[in-house]
Amino acid sequence: MKKFPIVILISGRGSNLKAIIDAKDPLIEIKAVISNKSQAGGLLYAKQNNIKTEVLNHKNFKTRLEFDQALQICIDKYQPELIVLAGFMRILSAEFVNHYQKRIINIHPSLLPTFKGLHTHKRVLEAKIKQHGASVHFLTEELDAGPVIIQAQVPVFSDDNEDTLAARVLNEEHRIYPQAIHWFAEGRLKLRGQQVFLDNQIIEVPNETF
Ligand code: GAR
Repeated sequence: MKKFPIVILISGRGSNLKAIIDAKDPLIEIKAVISNKSQAGGLLYAKQNNIKTEVLNHKNFKTRLEFDQALQICIDKYQPELIVLAGFMRILSAEFVNHYQKRIINIHPSLLPTFKGLHTHKRVLEAKIKQHGASVHFLTEELDAGPVIIQAQVPVFSDDNEDTLAARVLNEEHRIYPQAIHWFAEGRLKLRGQQVFLDNQIIEVPNETF
């Protein structure tokens, strides 16, 4: 059976990448891991697992558009059916996002639509909010605003600091990202307009209990 080809983009540590690799999903084939940083820790783990890696340093390009075009060419060599952003810390141009419409997903460490952007754990602690979590969503032109596929919630405890909270959220990220990819590979997940469908049922309130 032909496996479902995906390409994963990273910028750093790569713990989500590791979770996806370690899930050993029989449906998927990770065709390549591409990083904009040569020092990204995840590259090593990919190599150890015999997955092709590429580095495309954004600093070698004059404009965002030039980088995105080169990245697109690099990705398209592998003919993936899904692009998975796993801690890829670059804003992508509308041209790039549109090229991969409906087949590019991201994981974000908050319960979207709350706490878009950076430093989510710090901001959640400052806001003294009691629930936090992570979201997997389709990528759209607007940052962290695409339709949500799955979320996981975690409690925030009064003695939490950024590290303890981040670790609790990350644990959930590692569970929900392989799940979302699996649904996609099964062909059960679809984006129609701004609405996400699982088995032709609208995902109304994103949660983890499907
Ligand atoms: C993860 O927490 C991911 O949700 C976050 O970066 C971390 C990457 O960790 N992504 C974003 O903030 C994107 N806006 P990892 O490299 O260990 O997977």
